[in-house]
Amino acid sequence: MKCRILGICGSPRTASTWRGLQIAMESAAEELGGEGETELVSFKGKRIEPCNHCNACKKNGGTCVIKDDMTELYDKLIEADAFVFASPVYVMNVTPQMSAFFSRMRPLHAVKGGKLKDKVATAIAVGGTRHGGQEQTVGAIVNACLTRGIVYVGGEPGFYSGAMAWSEDKGAAGIDADLIAVDALKCSGKRIARWARISALGKAAADKAEAEKK
Ligand SMILES: Cc1cc2nc3c(=O)[nH]c(=O)nc-3n(C[C@H](O)[C@H](O)[C@H](O)COP(=O)(O)O)c2cc1C
Repeated sequence: MKCRILGICGSPRTASTWRGLQIAMESAAEELGGEGETELVSFKGKRIEPCNHCNACKKNGGTCVIKDDMTELYDKLIEADAFVFASPVYVMNVTPQMSAFFSRMRPLHAVKGGKLKDKVATAIAVGGTRHGGQEQTVGAIVNACLTRGIVYVGGEPGFYSGAMAWSEDKGAAGIDADLIAVDALKCSGKRIARWARISALGKAAADKAEAEKK
């Protein structure tokens, strides 16, 4: 069984958060071996408008009518078994780009229903200061997952809610220097890979059991 893990980087740059996501995704790919596929998406240069509550998706069966760089992401989101959502900390929260992205997922769960309900996710937050709101940013991602029907997978003892890093505003080098974060990122990658596998195998078994019951 092939598992797909999609990594989303909510920074408008490819710098420290991108590096953190790379570390986690490399670890996930290693854990999955030949069984898996991983893909990283950066928001650098992308235009993702926030949901404007026009409700067109409610009337047309769940298609967002805003045409921008989110359009091509819908299929990727549906095809993935698991996600790694990585955001820089902006004002102790996710970036506006990441927030817009989560709002645009509305048709996949809240409107069309159930498109994301068998998927799992974990979070990465990267701040420029040591205690700059990383935990709140992970919390915002957890909450976004809850509103989208995605099952959240936390971290390990020491970083319960997800991987958090301190970049010192030094880009990729800042992440490589934060050895505690590097360890957490690798652990998170392994853990989400295991859950991608559990989700993919469990979904197939659950679908079979439900079909037999009918
Ligand atoms: C508008 C803005 C707001 C920020 N707010 C915070 C903050 O609240 N806490 C923090 O630790 N760092 C904050 N930072 C710093 C970034 O989180 C930090 O530089 C991060 O490494 C950027 O990620 P990137 O290199 O992937 O773009 C902010 C940066 C910007 C541009």
